[in-house]
Amino acid sequence: MRKKIIAGNWKMNKTVADALTLVKGIQAELAGSTEVEVVVCPPFTALKSVGDVLTDSQIKLGCQNMSSENDGAYTGEISHTMLKELFVKYVILGHSERRQYYKETDFWVNKKVKKALETNLRPIVCVGEKLEEREAGNTEKVVEAQVRGSLADITAEQFENVVVAYEPVWAIGTGKTATSEQAQEVHAFIRGIIRDMVGEKAAKGLRIQYGGSMKASNAKELLSQPDIDGGLIGGAALEARSFVDIVKAGL
Ligand code: PGA
Repeated sequence: MRKKIIAGNWKMNKTVADALTLVKGIQAELAGSTEVEVVVCPPFTALKSVGDVLTDSQIKLGCQNMSSENDGAYTGEISHTMLKELFVKYVILGHSERRQYYKETDFWVNKKVKKALETNLRPIVCVGEKLEEREAGNTEKVVEAQVRGSLADITAEQFENVVVAYEPVWAIGTGKTATSEQAQEVHAFIRGIIRDMVGEKAAKGLRIQYGGSMKASNAKELLSQPDIDGGLIGGAALEARSFVDIVKAGL
């Protein structure tokens, strides 16, 4: 049985004060609950304060990007050592916004995934097609290339610490959710590629989140699909009530 994992991607939102209000709200509602793994990914500037609130909590700390390098002259970048110092456990990599606005390619995502795994951080690796790609019938082709490229050379054993997030780009922040059938189809497809890459055991154990306008009202149906093992939540993660309701839908 794969344990469901719900992660909040706060993107470039929340000052330290606002982040503290949000995490305390989530914490108050979910204290002691362990059935679903819960992760919050604040912006870098709020990691320390949010992490302090989460000491001894079941809720885990994640971030939204990291450097593929160890240290040195990389202006503006953040290293694994700096993140681990703040007790970060998960790192979102290859989000479509980073692919689109900052031209991150599968090559770079793969470098970061490898660095995360080498340093005991757990990557949440995002893949997903754009609207025009879906409409042209290229969803599988695009997703397969991203999965194979971003996860190249990762061993079956390392896969135990990987989470994949399927996020159709046309569903992110648009209010348009993939239907549970559409999502399930791609999730099963991704699991099949992993099986081909590293074998049955790793494929069966891999958690694949859905992301893209997931909210309390559609979470239950999405999360009841056999290959949907959680959610990566943007907009609905910015408020404690709506985020907690999604977590509860996963119970
Ligand atoms: P959304 O974002 O829930 O606002 O669609 C999801 C994501 O980008 O991770």
